[in-house]
Amino acid sequence: MKPDDNLASELERRGVSRRAFLKFATYAASLMALPPSAAEALAEGLAAARRQSVIWLSFQECTGCTESITRSHAPTLENLIFDFISLDYHHTLMAVSGEAAEEARLQAMAANKGKYIVVVDGSVPLDNPGYSMIAGVSNRQMLEDTLKDAYAVIAVGTCASFGGIPAAKPNPTGAVPISALTSGKPLINISGCPPIPEAMTGVISYVLSFGKLPELDHLGRPKAFFGETIHDRCYRRPFYDRGLFAEGFDDAGARQGYCLYKVGCKGPVTYNACATLKWNGGVSFPIQSGHGCLGCSEPNFWDQGGFYRPLPTPLGAMGPILAGAAVAGAALGVGAALSARNHQQAYLAAREKEKE
Ligand code: SF4
Ligand code: SF4
Ligand code: F3S
Repeated sequence: MKPDDNLASELERRGVSRRAFLKFATYAASLMALPPSAAEALAEGLAAARRQSVIWLSFQECTGCTESITRSHAPTLENLIFDFISLDYHHTLMAVSGEAAEEARLQAMAANKGKYIVVVDGSVPLDNPGYSMIAGVSNRQMLEDTLKDAYAVIAVGTCASFGGIPAAKPNPTGAVPISALTSGKPLINISGCPPIPEAMTGVISYVLSFGKLPELDHLGRPKAFFGETIHDRCYRRPFYDRGLFAEGFDDAGARQGYCLYKVGCKGPVTYNACATLKWNGGVSFPIQSGHGCLGCSEPNFWDQGGFYRPLPTPLGAMGPILAGAAVAGAALGVGAALSARNHQQAYLAAREKEKE
């Protein structure tokens, strides 16, 4: 793609019809929970957009986030969106290029001052710069240098968004999320361990089209993907509401597909889109595969995981309470009182108490 081309001319050159492009725009708009009328505006914005320079930094991470994005089962047009981005530097994918890769990063920063987007996976170790370095530069230094002239920064994955596994107790490297070092630069957190690839595509399409950040929740996550809990949209929810739970992974309840709450599911306190978008092109997600949600997109993931430990009371009695409420015809009031946000607050308070 020539540097001055917009997406419309690139689509034409590749023989992509306007109809196919509009179909993609409608899909991207629905991913971002935009009204159908916004699909055309999104299509126009994308068609007119210029190449977006992206610099991808990888710090204390496991490569899972990059694997997730590059193994995306996204349709061809989404790949085109990624082609349309000028991925000028990706630490992991360009590692064999050595000094040439570092040169590419510096050139991209100089050529796109104030316009490039920085994507980060992994947390930053503060206790000792030597814990994680790239080309002789500490992670902290590289982040601060690269962010200086960036338009915005996207934290991909729970490590970059909230510290994740590297920040789990006893946090031997003093790992922090990148929000600790972004000094007011516009930031989007796309959490998850790893995050859902479509969330990445949706957010980038939105920023390219409308030239601004999407609506974010109180943790800096796009509301379109993190506005509801797994529990809100889980297909096992009717079992929860009727108080029907698996008590073990191989009991009769598990075989009936009952709710996994009692075997440690953190769906009621986890905000992510797995129950609707699912994984691997919509094939499945953890709960559909028989395992409770681990809460991988939430702050303090891992320390708060307690994978096979049920959520503490007052959540323990929720299913039967809701079942009773439904029978009494009071489900609406009880549902509101026991909103997912309340669940989360109770959960966090109980965990804090356990630590004392
Ligand atoms: Fe790996 Fe999970 Fe961290 Fe991504 S968020 S780098 S998948 S540990
Ligand atoms: Fe689904 Fe877990 Fe909620 Fe049960 S507790 S309905 S398995 S999200
Ligand atoms: Fe993570 Fe739970 Fe989804 S463990 S992948 S947020 S179902």
